[in-house]
Amino acid sequence: MHHTPVLLGKVMEILEECACYGNVVDATLGLGGHAERILSSRKEVRLLGIDRDEEALQFAKERLASFGERFVAVQGNFRNLETLVCDQGFSPAKAILFDLGVSNFQLSEPRRGFSFQNEGPLDMRMGPDASLTAEAVLNTASCGELTRIFRDYGEERHAYLMAKLICAERERSGGLHTTTDVVEVLRRGLPAPMQRKMGGHPARKLFQALRIHVNDELGALNAALEQCSRIVSGGSVVVFVSYHSLEDRLVKQAFRKWETEGLGKRWNRKLLVADDEEIDANYKARSAKLRGFIFSA
Ligand SMILES: C[S@@+](CC[C@H](N)C(=O)[O-])C[C@H]1O[C@@H](n2cnc3c(N)ncnc32)[C@H](O)[C@@H]1O
Repeated sequence: MHHTPVLLGKVMEILEECACYGNVVDATLGLGGHAERILSSRKEVRLLGIDRDEEALQFAKERLASFGERFVAVQGNFRNLETLVCDQGFSPAKAILFDLGVSNFQLSEPRRGFSFQNEGPLDMRMGPDASLTAEAVLNTASCGELTRIFRDYGEERHAYLMAKLICAERERSGGLHTTTDVVEVLRRGLPAPMQRKMGGHPARKLFQALRIHVNDELGALNAALEQCSRIVSGGSVVVFVSYHSLEDRLVKQAFRKWETEGLGKRWNRKLLVADDEEIDANYKARSAKLRGFIFSA
């Protein structure tokens, strides 16, 4: 199982610059790539790793076991960041890292249903706290609701047409059950010139939208952003790596607000992205955007 940590050099640079030794929180532990590097950088670092996904957490626990008591892993949603961090004795945290979205491990497991490239059940839940599967959403939401999901969370221009195709298909066949069912509906129903114009895969934005909706990703991000300032101290740093404009917009707005409130300053005014070398080595890095915020001492 492999997941190359994105913008690792930049993440380490900001942690080093702010002397982030002591309590560090990795709110999206995943397979532990960033965490391993952070733990290796200084003996003084204690790291709390949080992830919604029990399978990823188990993998990371084994990977990072050699760090002994310096590493603590907890299954949970960063929507409850303050409680998780305080309960584990990690407040105040010197650094908090969010590497948002899904990991390659989740994407590459067909049974998780995240990928339009592999056939699997329409699940898409990152963890047990997500109540509805993608299958339930696709088969029960109204056409208007599906249009809203595809448009708001996927920024999909053809949201209404896609929603209509899905509603017609579930009436005809009794329901959609696999990732391939969805891909075939779009392939059959969208006019060929429209599909050509879409550039990438016609189901890409729809899958992103469903995943964000099923896991209430933006709700969790907003909740975490509200809690950060309560679990840091002077000189602490919060770093976000995001992968689409919806996430990045929320982070940007929160950082501006924190600055206006006099809580500290943005580490980078200009958005940091991966260079060509990193993108060549790791395709996922192509859409990554990093923002850091330093709280006032
Ligand atoms: C991009 S991966 C992180 C990869 C990690 N930085 C590494 O180097 O291995 C994102 C991880 O965040 C987790 N995640 C996403 N939203 C979450 C949330 N609201 N609460 C906790 N974990 C979340 C996902 O389950 C996934 O494992």
